[in-house]
Amino acid sequence: MKNQQTAPESLYGELYRTHLASVCARADKALERADCDNLVVYSGAPPMQFLDDQAYPFKVNPHFKQWVPVLDNPGCLLVYQPGRRPRLLFNHPTDFWHKPAALPQAPWAEAFDIVPIPNLAAARAHLPDTLARTALIGELPLKFGQVNPQSLLDSLHYHRAFKTGYEVECLRHANHFGALGHRAAQASFLAGGSEFDAHLAYLQACNQREEELPYNSIVAIDTNAAVLHYQHLERSRSTQRRSFLIDAGANFNGYASDITRTCSAHEDDFAMLVSGMDQLQQDLCATLRPGADWADVQMDTHLRVGHLLREADLIRIDGEAAVAEGLTALFFPHGVGHLLGLQVHDAGGFLRDESGATIDKPPGQPFLRLTRRLESGFVVTVEPGLYFIDPLLEPVRQMALGRQINWNRVKALRPCGGIRIEDNVLITETGSENLTRQAFAALG
Ligand code: GLY
Ligand code: MN
Ligand code: MN
Repeated sequence: MKNQQTAPESLYGELYRTHLASVCARADKALERADCDNLVVYSGAPPMQFLDDQAYPFKVNPHFKQWVPVLDNPGCLLVYQPGRRPRLLFNHPTDFWHKPAALPQAPWAEAFDIVPIPNLAAARAHLPDTLARTALIGELPLKFGQVNPQSLLDSLHYHRAFKTGYEVECLRHANHFGALGHRAAQASFLAGGSEFDAHLAYLQACNQREEELPYNSIVAIDTNAAVLHYQHLERSRSTQRRSFLIDAGANFNGYASDITRTCSAHEDDFAMLVSGMDQLQQDLCATLRPGADWADVQMDTHLRVGHLLREADLIRIDGEAAVAEGLTALFFPHGVGHLLGLQVHDAGGFLRDESGATIDKPPGQPFLRLTRRLESGFVVTVEPGLYFIDPLLEPVRQMALGRQINWNRVKALRPCGGIRIEDNVLITETGSENLTRQAFAALG
């Protein structure tokens, strides 16, 4: 595995053909639900910035990239008419201001009729004669029978949780590139680099530009690690640093990894806590199997975080009581994970079935992003955390609950911000496979 341009040929053989057959079969079902005959998926095009001639970075429609790994060419359309070869209307203008995308040559392209089009207006001639029974996913100035029909999207989103073999391979590659980036970013931090330096090291090592990443990386030194979605990149190279948290993923053929690692600059109490959290996270991953209820996994995480807080002498009551009193929620205030795939927070986490019926979050679990029971073929993130967040902790200092917190220990560890460890896990027939740990292990 070198970079995206050198994906192994094997990816596009049987694996891709089976994937495409599955995407077609899912489209058939979804079209039936929406009472439509044909499907058109628009890649999208980047919006312009306000009062400017500059566009925002292009983010391709996730439905489009599930059909074809074309991520960087706006203005393309996928046309699917059941029983016929799918058609890719490929934006291929004559342009001397920009370099037109090369027509796809990779073996996956053999499964499509590829039609170069000079502009969107030229697409009409290659769409079904009448669009009255054609559904569109995306936005186009043409009169389609249905545009983004909910019944069609619900069906596709429900089935999207079950990854095809090709998708699992793409997610493995995305983890490989993410692991390369993480290793380099951590080395940069340990060598004295700033958040910005670590970010650049990450990009360089995973060979992706910032806008290609599946989400904005969180690169946090010291107390910045207590900000869950910390969004800045400080340039300062303070010598007095304590801790480093990086939540960053990579992209492969449009599939995302979503990985977090935390480390301490010293062999100290915080390093012990990180190591406790790392073990907790691996123990949690080991419990995952088909049938597991994600709401139970969330509760189990709280209990484990409660035990760790007690072990680390951060609280004065045991793990069970800490969960019952709401103490763990002050240190671990987010969901334990979510579906992962074409989008970092992949669609369909609450769908009961393909009809669009949903499964409610249980009371008291507002941060759940997945209420479905796990099934073989799902890929989820597992991302327990433990943070020292002033806006959550300070309000309870004078309350009865506050007496259960060892404030001296909090004071000692607060400068380190917090810890999150996040892996991407494939649910298998018998248990699970940790794609992220495998990717790091393979780097040696
Ligand atoms: N990186 C966003 C998340 O972990 O969900
Ligand atoms: Mn993450
Ligand atoms: Mn995540």
